[in-house]
Amino acid sequence: MEKQNDQSRMDRIVSLAKRRGFIFQSSEIYGGLNGFWDYGPLGVALKRNVKDCWWRDMVAGHDELATIQGAPSPYEMAGLDCTIIMHPQVWKCSGHFDLFHDWMIDCRDSKRRYRYDHLNGRWASHRDKKVFVTTDQSGDEAPPSIAAKAQKFFGLRAKQVDEIEWIGGLESLAGSITAGTVTLADVLGPDAAAPGTLTEPREFNLMFETRIGAVAGNDDDRAFLRPETAQGIFVNFKNVVDTSRVRVPFGIGQIGKSFRNEITPRNFTFRSREFEQMEIEFFCKPADSAAWYRYWRDRRWKWYLDLGLTEGRLQLREHHADELSHYSVGTADIEYAFPFLAAGEFGELEGIAHRGDFDLRSHMEGKLVRRDGQLVVETGDDGKPRHRGSGKDLSYFDDISRERYVPHVIEPSAGADRGVLAFLCDAYHEDEVPDEDGKPRSRTVMKLHPRLAPVKAAILPLVKKDGMPEVAIELYRSLKPHMACQYDEKGSVGRRYARQDEAGTPWCLTIDGQTLTDKTVTLRDRDTLVQTRVPVGEVVEMLRDRLA
Ligand code: GAP
Repeated sequence: MEKQNDQSRMDRIVSLAKRRGFIFQSSEIYGGLNGFWDYGPLGVALKRNVKDCWWRDMVAGHDELATIQGAPSPYEMAGLDCTIIMHPQVWKCSGHFDLFHDWMIDCRDSKRRYRYDHLNGRWASHRDKKVFVTTDQSGDEAPPSIAAKAQKFFGLRAKQVDEIEWIGGLESLAGSITAGTVTLADVLGPDAAAPGTLTEPREFNLMFETRIGAVAGNDDDRAFLRPETAQGIFVNFKNVVDTSRVRVPFGIGQIGKSFRNEITPRNFTFRSREFEQMEIEFFCKPADSAAWYRYWRDRRWKWYLDLGLTEGRLQLREHHADELSHYSVGTADIEYAFPFLAAGEFGELEGIAHRGDFDLRSHMEGKLVRRDGQLVVETGDDGKPRHRGSGKDLSYFDDISRERYVPHVIEPSAGADRGVLAFLCDAYHEDEVPDEDGKPRSRTVMKLHPRLAPVKAAILPLVKKDGMPEVAIELYRSLKPHMACQYDEKGSVGRRYARQDEAGTPWCLTIDGQTLTDKTVTLRDRDTLVQTRVPVGEVVEMLRDRLA
């Protein structure tokens, strides 16, 4: 396996993503917009395939009569597509209005804004000056960044850097301030020329605000772009139960855009301000919820493996009790060792959370808080609920057991863009293949799972004459109704293979002189490079079988 923490590998992936039309920066011709990304022709197909696989594997293709391995019982699945802007009370009861914030810190000198928990620093001294030098870089990039800033601050030449005396190791700014070992007056901000320019940390709500209607201005018009798709599912729980006749246990799946005004979007698409989520809210009997939590954690882990992510780069991490949200009974993250992270670090792809009855109760009763181990409605000084719930009964009546209860929820919540990024990073390979003369040629190949590959097959006439294009076009037309395929007759066959390898196309079908005599084509496998002859009449069925 390639070395983790390889920024230059990440740079090559980002450059291929741009060069081959997977991902572009949004509004690039105007200089781009930080935290927003567009998917190009190959990228949109890849992302759609990720979402389609999820939808088919989790929702549409679910066999509700079978007991899937690891599941406590058979269960049903339904789908939903909710609006991005919802009633503002949704976010008040869910807790996002009061609690969905990060701590930010501004620099009066550089006018830059940072996430407080992203700043790290180290004490440095030279002659009579001592300063706590900070950086917003993480992992292996933090120490050289701090060293460069200290050198600049002390006005030293490169050969003088050894004169800097370092006191202690790299520590988080937030931790050092809480511990009282650093004050803001001592801190040299990441882009500041002098210490003491960072402001006190302030809360910053991550929800994007907007106004509804033509007369904007008063608080009643205020609305928010959803920061997660989940709440649309909770507020429709009763609608789905009443209209689709599903019975607990069942899940509702939704794919859609979410928006978070991240203070420091970074690492390509990993932390974006507009992104897509693929979320399931699974409703079950409270007594069975721990078993369902384990089922969904393991099922989602297996999904990534089945679609080809390298197991050694994945990590399933159960949260410690002190990391859990105030309502959560258990949470696990599925994490991936993205190449932009330091060795040993992982980034979250998906969280699987046991949310208890927090969400349904919040939308019935009002915003909840945990007090003495119990979830209770938060009240203001006047004793009234701080944020009033809908008052609608969101409990479930089981007409067989004659029990009424508020179902518990297991939530597997995945990011479609982070999934795409992980699949891209994992697929990226550089190797050597023999060229047409048998000499080794270096190639870049995206070893995407065939279900995810934007183009499944390329049809290549060896030359543009002797009737080969005609046979190739006929094959292209018979394959196209069944899968994404491309016809390509431009350039040498070696260059055409190289183009398809970079796009991640698993199979190339070449029409050559022999095709005209025995009606066979060569089928080249992207990963093994093995070429086999296949009767042209069997190609469609063979590739359809491989994709099934
Ligand atoms: N409903 C639960 C929820 O939204 P989350 O952990 O905040 O949980 C779920 O988000 C997933 O959404 C994450 O695991 C990640 O894949 C994706 N996600 C969250 N914030 C993101 C961002 N700023 N950019 C890209 N993906 C993001």
